Amino acid sequence: MNRAEELENRLGQLVKFGGLVTKETNLNKLLELIAKQVEEILTAERCSIFLLEASTNELWSEVARGIGHTEIRVPLGSGIVGQVALTGNPLNISDAYSNEKFNPEIDRIIRFKTRSILAVPLKNVNGNIIGVFEVLNKKQGQFNSEDEGILQLLSSLAASAIENAQLYETISQSQLETIYRLAITAEYRDQHDTAIHLRHISEYSALIATSMGLEEKQVENIRYASPLHDIGKVAIADAILLKPAKLTAEEFEEMKKHTLYGAKILCNAQSNLLQVACKIAASHHEKFDGTGYPNKLKYTQIPLEARIVSVADVFDALCMPRVYKPSWDPEKAREYIVQESSKSFDPEVVNAFIRIYPQIMEVQKQPDPRSTIIPGIHKNLKSY
Ligand code: C2E
Ligand code: SIN
Ligand code: SIN
Ligand code: FE
Repeated sequence: MNRAEELENRLGQLVKFGGLVTKETNLNKLLELIAKQVEEILTAERCSIFLLEASTNELWSEVARGIGHTEIRVPLGSGIVGQVALTGNPLNISDAYSNEKFNPEIDRIIRFKTRSILAVPLKNVNGNIIGVFEVLNKKQGQFNSEDEGILQLLSSLAASAIENAQLYETISQSQLETIYRLAITAEYRDQHDTAIHLRHISEYSALIATSMGLEEKQVENIRYASPLHDIGKVAIADAILLKPAKLTAEEFEEMKKHTLYGAKILCNAQSNLLQVACKIAASHHEKFDGTGYPNKLKYTQIPLEARIVSVADVFDALCMPRVYKPSWDPEKAREYIVQESSKSFDPEVVNAFIRIYPQIMEVQKQPDPRSTIIPGIHKNLKSY
């Protein structure tokens, strides 16, 4: 490629980049998209994007580790990245390990060997630093001043897209947090480990939905709406809800109303998410064969979201201790779910549950009591 072709090629890449990044509003996806594009454009092995968190003065970056993701955090001023964020000046380092500022800890965590680094600040339209863009290991030769110029240009294109996505996430995250707190309030009386139960329901339901091939938006709605399934229990008297024994028939009739109360609390909501939550609250005790409550709905009369949450709810209720019963062995609970296929549960949901059972066990084993269903909070694992 001659020089003119090379420039034209780069210009084309930049235009494509600008077009791509303005469309994505999901922050994590946007960051992944940017990183991938930047790696290509600068022929580097890796691009990391660190964002500055004002409340802690730390820079964070999400990295893939094993099957999951983890968050790396760097204090402002520390390491290469921290220095670029502090000073606002780019750094071009040809041999990372001989640079005294370089912190090899991240390499250790992500199992990577950094050779060269080009890092530039990520500035918003007002000129404030919102993070750092870092590319690692130029595939051939060293990063030069042209690369530096291109990275600065890319970073200014990326910054506004990132800020938009952040704004979008703050709004929906605070909404989700409100919803989640509401759900905890509803259940804290009868379950001391409410947070764990709700996280289980949320993750099991999302796993099942994914395995059934539902589209992502629907999966996310189920993930965030499912913790509200029992919100109607706020309206059930302590004498019934907390009774450490089997309920009388009359008491159970009263108990069943938690589905109606839940639907009442959540219905007429504007948001799509709360509409899904309403369907789940109303119908999570309906049974596939039409013997459930409150409306004895059958088969596909029961909303799919409710058929999914029903399996997740019963499985986890069986595995957890309750005031009225001890916990079951997961294997026994699994057998119960299978036994109830086509009776209590939609067989297709049960099949999906069986397919992802190993992942369910993984979730159940996760001990972290700080884990919540709120995105961004569950991954606050600090590496150093
Ligand atoms: P929950 O404790 O969250 O249980 C949810 C669902 O899991 C139950 O819905 C039931 O389908 C299943 N489940 C839980 N434990 C068992 C069990 O030991 N055996 C079997 N076969 N299934 C079980 P269900 O039955 O409609 O109950 C709804 C809610 O009513 C329960 O939510 C719980 O809060 C309350 N409840 C049900 N039975 C009793 C009871 O005997 N005593 C008390 N205090 N509360 C009860
Ligand atoms: C550092 O900021 O010192 C680490 C750079 C990196 O490997 O990401
Ligand atoms: C009941 O028959 O009271 C409900 C079954 C149970 O949750 O144990
Ligand atoms: Fe319920």
